[in-house]
Formats: sequence, C-alpha cells, structure tokens
Amino acid sequence: MERKTILTSDNSKTLLIPELNETYHSTKGAMVEALYVFIQEGLFKVDKKAIKIFEMGFGTGLNALVTFNATIQKEISVDYHSIEKYPLSVDLIEELDHLNSLGYEKWQKEYHTMLSSPWNESIEIHPNFKLQKLEGDLLSYQIAATYDLIFFDAFGPKIQAKLWSEEVCQKMYDCLEKNGLLVTYCAQGQFKRNLKSVGFEVESLPGPPGKREMTRAYKK
Ligand SMILES: C[S@@+](CC[C@H](N)C(=O)[O-])C[C@H]1O[C@@H](n2cnc3c(N)ncnc32)[C@H](O)[C@@H]1O
Repeated sequence: MERKTILTSDNSKTLLIPELNETYHSTKGAMVEALYVFIQEGLFKVDKKAIKIFEMGFGTGLNALVTFNATIQKEISVDYHSIEKYPLSVDLIEELDHLNSLGYEKWQKEYHTMLSSPWNESIEIHPNFKLQKLEGDLLSYQIAATYDLIFFDAFGPKIQAKLWSEEVCQKMYDCLEKNGLLVTYCAQGQFKRNLKSVGFEVESLPGPPGKREMTRAYKK
C-alpha cells in the first residue's frame, strides 16, 4: 500500500495512506498528539518507577521515541513492547524527521537503534529503556506478559473496526495489571461501551488539538 509523507499542523510529519485516506497520526499535530495522549495523559499518570508498556501499532516509532525521552527525563525505567503487523522501512520513517520536530537530535543513535533493531527480541536501548518490537497481528497474537499501561494506537474504528471490538478490549483487559490503564486518542461511543462491557472504568478527557475528546480506561 502506498504511503505519503505529509506535514501536520504542528510542523511535524506523518504518513498518509491515500487508498484508505487514513493517517498514522493526527493531521492537527502528530507530535502534540503523541506527547499529550500517550505521555501527559498516559505515562505520567502511572505512579510507578518501573513501568511495563504495551503499544498497539509501532508504526513510525513516534510514541516509543517520546516515551524514551520521558523515561530519561523522569528517571524511571520502561520495558516497552509494541506490536506491528505491517513494519515500515527505516528509511521511510527517518524521512519523517521526528527527531528534528521534537528537538531530540541527541537521541539520533538511540532512535536509529529502535527502528533498526530486530523484531521479536528485547533490546536494551538504554539501561532504563528496553524495547521489544513484536511483529504480528493483534487479533491473533497471544499476549504472554502483563502491563501497567497500554497505548492503544490503532487506525480508527472506521478503517479497522475489529481492532476496537469487545473481543480486543477483553484481550487488553486481560493483559493489564490491576490498576493498569489504557489510553487512546479515540473517543468513539461504541468503543467506550466495549471497554465498559469487559470491566474497564472509562474516562473521557479533553482531546489533543482538533479532537474534542480522548479516552482513558482503568482496570479496577
Ligand atoms: C495509528 S498507526 C500507529 C502509529 C504509531 N503508534 C506511531 O507512533 O507512529 C497504527 C498502526 O497499527 C498497525 N496495524 C494495523 N493493523 C494491525 C494489526 N492487526 N495488528 C498489529 N498492528 C496493526 C499499522 O500498520 C500502523 O502502523
């Protein structure tokens, strides 16, 4: 499938899949969305020093990169697992120049390692940050570990309805630790009902620029 680089409103870039008219991040600001939804309203709400994260959709590694930076800043440690069905080439991702948009030029070596490291192996990017990219399809993948935090960053429900189903919500619930949380940019009513029906406590928060709401769900 063709992917085109586009500029978003905060001057960071993302990828567009013209065939689906779907982007990897918000066109109203890719970088701002990642920092707000996944870091401010996700990572920073976990009251632990050692945090295990599961990400649905490694994509361009933007969420992994902003999490890495926050890990170093906050002097915490993170074990980051991220599943991806359609890995992108390192060259294509590096064209997006996330490092420059974020002012993270100092992480060039680390980010390159994140992108080019082998799949399905745990790699130490830094003594405080381990990354395991899992090549697979979330729908059939047997999740072996448990997590404190889930970054649910699939393409939207209009494009991939199955990934927002009750069945997948159950899978996410089952792999979360007690008091764990799930964050996503999506605020679709049906998705929130699916989360509630498997036992999550669901909170709607103000969304990133251009989106009225986002969702955070807790495992009681
Ligand atoms: C919104 S993008 C993720 C953006 C990414 N988190 C980032 O920081 O760049 C959604 C991702 O989910 C992946 N994906 C789609 N269907 C999938 C599936 N069934 N299992 C795993 N990954 C899938 C896509 O290839 C895409 O990379």
